[in-house]
Amino acid sequence: MNSTSSAEIDVQPLGCQRDAFELPDDICWLNTSYMSPMLHAVREAANAGVTTRATPWTLTQEDFFDPADQIRRSVADLTSADADGITLVPSVSYAMAIAARNIPVAAGQNVVVVREQFPSNIYPWRRLTDENKATVRTVQFETDDWTESIIASIDGQTAIVSMPHVHWTTGTQFDIVRIAEKVRAVGAALIVDATQSLGTLPFDVSEVQPDFLVASAYKCMLGPYGLTYVYVHPSWRNGVPLEEGWLNRANASDFSQLTEYCDDYMPGARRYDYGERSNSILLAMAIASLKQIQEWTIPRIEATTRPLIEQIVSRADAAGLWHPPLEHCSPCMVGIGLPGEAPNDIGKQLAQRGIYISVRKGNARVAPHIYNNSAEVDRLFDTLQELTSVG
Ligand SMILES: Cc1ncc(COP(=O)(O)O)c(C=O)c1O
Repeated sequence: MNSTSSAEIDVQPLGCQRDAFELPDDICWLNTSYMSPMLHAVREAANAGVTTRATPWTLTQEDFFDPADQIRRSVADLTSADADGITLVPSVSYAMAIAARNIPVAAGQNVVVVREQFPSNIYPWRRLTDENKATVRTVQFETDDWTESIIASIDGQTAIVSMPHVHWTTGTQFDIVRIAEKVRAVGAALIVDATQSLGTLPFDVSEVQPDFLVASAYKCMLGPYGLTYVYVHPSWRNGVPLEEGWLNRANASDFSQLTEYCDDYMPGARRYDYGERSNSILLAMAIASLKQIQEWTIPRIEATTRPLIEQIVSRADAAGLWHPPLEHCSPCMVGIGLPGEAPNDIGKQLAQRGIYISVRKGNARVAPHIYNNSAEVDRLFDTLQELTSVG
């Protein structure tokens, strides 16, 4: 068993925090895995960021460095990592490109991924293996215990395991600690895409020791679109960045001396930061969202969403709809199989009734967060019943 039931979580749930969000009462947003609604605090921070941009005479040189470092500290705090190990990039695709640029893969080796993984975490491995006469090994799930299937697929020829913490269409939570042990035992590198989990499901860098941990800011992390947080293990902090930017050089803080070109980078993972990462709007939004998550804490967010996931699973069972076994369900979302007679445009029909989920690969992906309550889960299933005449 790799997940925890709500009864086993000994932290106090927070209760529904809808008031903190811009979410009209009649909108049933069970779609965090697509994008979170916006915290009022994040909107206010965005407005302040626009004001900063509109008044460049108020900008100081420190503004180009301090907010980014503040974000590094918060992300490190939330993941039990060190702040020096955090780099800021625009997207998961960008983060995967950094990893692919730096981790060597030799002819005959394999890169392990899981079935129907998000494309940003597939395409770089297809290119890397093509260029090096290596192969992508896709784990198919023959049993209900997907973690076991992944562990069994890792062998002495594995160079990289690049996988999600939570699967983006089914909501399955993998036992990343056990997988990491096997990865280390064969001397491979582990890359974890926590985009569909970090913020709701805890991740402990000191325990898992991933080579790269990657998470977009705009889903469970409740932040801006266009920013991705990446933890880089110390072994890769001397690697080659994708861009040869100036803002991450050792001499960058003295704008008067930038043409004293400097080959050294700022310490830690900062060398991988993307150009113009000191965007006052995005960074202000990120700071506000991280502050709120730190205040709520991830374990308490998880304790609040788990009961909603259990309710979704129980309503799916009552309607005879497929879902991953409850013990493998994440607290972030659950994919439920739609009945054959469900109309193709079921997502659209639900949206017309103010209910939002995503349909991915025949699964209705239901992703509650801290702003949802159990009446909304009932509203979804009652409406699904009307539209599909199931259960
Ligand atoms: C698992 C996962 N990874 C990454 C992303 C986003 O990737 P990118 O930042 O490259 O657009 C998504 C978006 O839905 C996702 O579900």
